[in-house]
Amino acid sequence: MAQIIDGKAVSAAIKEELKGKAAQLKQEGIQICLAVIQVGDDPASSVYVGNKKKACAYIGIDSLSYELPEETTQDELINLIEELNGKEEVSGILVQLPLPAHIDEDKIIRAIDPGKDVDGFHPQSVGALCIGQPRFVSCTPAGIIQLLKRSGIEIAGKECVVVGRSNIVGKPMALLLLRENGTVTIAHSKTKNLQEVTKRADILIVAVGRPKMITREYVKEGAVVIDVGIHRNENNKLCGDVDYDDVAPICSAITPVPGGVGPMTIAMLMHNCVEALTKR
Ligand code: GUN
Repeated sequence: MAQIIDGKAVSAAIKEELKGKAAQLKQEGIQICLAVIQVGDDPASSVYVGNKKKACAYIGIDSLSYELPEETTQDELINLIEELNGKEEVSGILVQLPLPAHIDEDKIIRAIDPGKDVDGFHPQSVGALCIGQPRFVSCTPAGIIQLLKRSGIEIAGKECVVVGRSNIVGKPMALLLLRENGTVTIAHSKTKNLQEVTKRADILIVAVGRPKMITREYVKEGAVVIDVGIHRNENNKLCGDVDYDDVAPICSAITPVPGGVGPMTIAMLMHNCVEALTKR
């Protein structure tokens, strides 16, 4: 039977460690503070932002909340970011994505001081990851590395296949696995013979955004399967990119949805906030 990788337990352990670190910093007179900006009132974004602020409160990080109207202009948003860049007491800045269509996300990400880029989305953060320098790392892929390590799964020398090539998950995931000495392949929507490629994987990471796309035909017996997807199925229940019931019986370890990768993203955001002062 497959080991079920418990993202809730791992994220709780990381948050406990961070709580201790935040308390220690406080004793040294350092208060961590995350500025969270949301433009518009997309309900899913409001839930994510709410959870991030709750996690801050739990760990002992101050949060500043900026809830801006949908009509906010790009210049107004950039002005706010520049103001926050200049505030000594603000350790991290997070602009919740997606942004309304009239705002260029790339320009907004570039406006954030790379020393406060706790999402790890700034080109300087991505470039540093690419050449193996310590800067902020995108939270979901960083969380997956923690899940693997803390579940006793060795990465070095393993065949790692990442399905999906987004800037936020697929690409940084591949770079992190490479940093851990995995042998890495990135597959995507134009990959030929996808099943042949995914079946090579000792560690298969799936971030395609299509419910239950990965069935057992894509998975080698004994593989470790990490599912980044989150969707509602026909019965309004949460499911991932992996058909869990079909795949779990043939793999050695698998993340469930919910309770796998999801809780790790916020834990790693909190980690980036606590580490922020070391990145200036
Ligand atoms: N929207 C969905 N995921 C994320 C994330 O990790 N960070 C930000 N800023 N926006 C998101």
